[in-house]
Amino acid sequence: PARLVVLASGTGSLLRALIAATTDAGYPAEVVAVGVDRTCAATGHADAAGVPWFTVAPGDYARRADWDRALTAAVRGYHPDLVVTAGFMRLLGPAFLGEYQGRIVNSHPALLPSFPGAHGVADALAYGVKITGATVHLVDEGVDTGPILAQEAVPVHPDDDEATLHERIKVVERRLLADVVAAVVRHGVVSDGRKARISW
Ligand code: GAR
Repeated sequence: PARLVVLASGTGSLLRALIAATTDAGYPAEVVAVGVDRTCAATGHADAAGVPWFTVAPGDYARRADWDRALTAAVRGYHPDLVVTAGFMRLLGPAFLGEYQGRIVNSHPALLPSFPGAHGVADALAYGVKITGATVHLVDEGVDTGPILAQEAVPVHPDDDEATLHERIKVVERRLLADVVAAVVRHGVVSDGRKARISW
């Protein structure tokens, strides 16, 4: 199976779903390590699955570039075929992108290019959109600007708050991310200028 390193910063429910998907017979990838940038619940899901995890925290480094290089080195030690960012709330740096760009898959809780950044759900709610969704895309140097691989719409309900809407989106993200990772591993990605698609 293909080797996945998953980066996370939060509760890790996408990570947990991806690990669960990899235990299905025939899933073409396995999670070989989890990296976090802070103390967070995601490492508990790694422990529960017997997956090793590591922390590379920006606060432990004098410069962002040092953190970027340390994260790159930590991930390199696991020889991933793909890196998956699942609720990783930091921009990856040039060293990391230099090594893995084109092989980093991110899940975002909005229909990009609308509502990029750390508050995609709250921003969509504040704008008043009636449909938002989930986007799985390749990571580039921008904030959620990389080539889109897959999207799925999710309705906004009139009585939604950020938590209820985010959970409805995450239900979709958990399935879409696992499906896209499997498809990328099985079929690869075709790039066409700034666009990309899975070569089904
Ligand atoms: C997910 O909705 C993911 O798309 C989002 O954080 C959540 C993580 O959930 N990521 C971003 O907003 C990145 N800009 P989890 O911790 O339960 O897996």
